[in-house]
Amino acid sequence: MSEPRRNVEVKARDADPVATLARAQALGAADEGVLRQRDTYFAVPRGRLKLREQEPGGAQLISYERPDEAAARTSSYRLMDVADADDARRALDAALGTVAVVDKRRRLLLWEGVRIHLDEVDGLGAFVELEAVAPSGSDLTAEREKVARLTSELALGEPIAGSYADLLADKADEAQVLLAAAERVMRNAHAPYSRFPVGAALLTPSGTVHVGANVENAAYPQGQCAEASAIGALVAAGDREIAAVAVVAEKLDVCPPCGGCRQRLKEFAAPDTPVYLGRPGGPLQTTTMAELLPLAFDEEALA
Ligand code: THU
Repeated sequence: MSEPRRNVEVKARDADPVATLARAQALGAADEGVLRQRDTYFAVPRGRLKLREQEPGGAQLISYERPDEAAARTSSYRLMDVADADDARRALDAALGTVAVVDKRRRLLLWEGVRIHLDEVDGLGAFVELEAVAPSGSDLTAEREKVARLTSELALGEPIAGSYADLLADKADEAQVLLAAAERVMRNAHAPYSRFPVGAALLTPSGTVHVGANVENAAYPQGQCAEASAIGALVAAGDREIAAVAVVAEKLDVCPPCGGCRQRLKEFAAPDTPVYLGRPGGPLQTTTMAELLPLAFDEEALA
C-alpha cells in the first residue's frame, strides 16, 4: 500500500450544475471528462474503507480518515489498485459487511492542482467537491488558500459534513420514518368502494410530518386521494413546502401517485424532492418529483 496522502477538501450541494461548470471553465479549469463511479463502503473499526470501481479506469481500495466537519477539512488516505473488483468486493463483504453503495456520475475538472468534482449522486442529487491534493511535507497553507478561492469563485453553498454514504444513511432513516407514518394513517383510510387503502406522509423543511389517507364517497368522483388529504393537512397547519414524500398502499408494494396527485404535490415540492414509494422495512422505490412529473405546469406558465 502507498504512503498515506493528504488533501484539503470541501463538499456542497450544487443548486445549478450547469452554472458551476461554466464558472469552472471560465477560470480555466481543464475538463477531464465524465467518470462513472461505484463506491462500496465496508464496516470497519477505524476511518472508512471503500472499494471504488470506476469507468473508464479500474478498481481501487481506498482507506481514509477525516474529521466529520463541514468546513474545508484535511483527509488522510491510502490507495491500492485492485485487479479483480468482484473478488475483492465479495471477500470484503464476507469478512466485514457492506454498509453502503454509492453510485455517481462525476465530471472531473482540474484547476491549479485542485480536483473539482461535479457529482450527480444516485438518490441524492448534485454536489460539488473540491480536493486539493497536498505534496508530502506541505503545511497545507497553499491547499487551503486554493480551496477557499475556488469556494468563492464557484459560489459554493453551505459546506456539508460527512460522506455520500452518510447522507444516504440519513436519507434511509428519513424514508423509514415517513413510510411508517404513511402506513399508520393508511389504516384510517375510508375506502369501502375500491378497498384500496392508501396513506401519504409529507415532511416539511422544519421536520414536521403531515399525513393523510384516501377518502372515498358513494358518489365516486367525490373521492380524494391520500396525497390530497395530506396536502390539506399541511396547508391547514400553515406549511407551504414539502421536503420529502412517502406513499404506502395496503394492496400494492410500490404505489405510484396518480397523475393528478403528482401535479398537486409539485405545487409545494422542488424538482429534487425525494418521493419514497414502498413499505416500512420492506420494498422501497426512491424517486423524485422531477422524475414523476417532467415538464410540469407551474406558476411560471401563468406568468
Ligand atoms: N389512491 C390514492 O389515494 N393515492 C394514489 O396515489 C393512488 C390512488 C386512492 C384513490 C382511490 O381511493 C383508491 O386509491 C383507488 O384508486
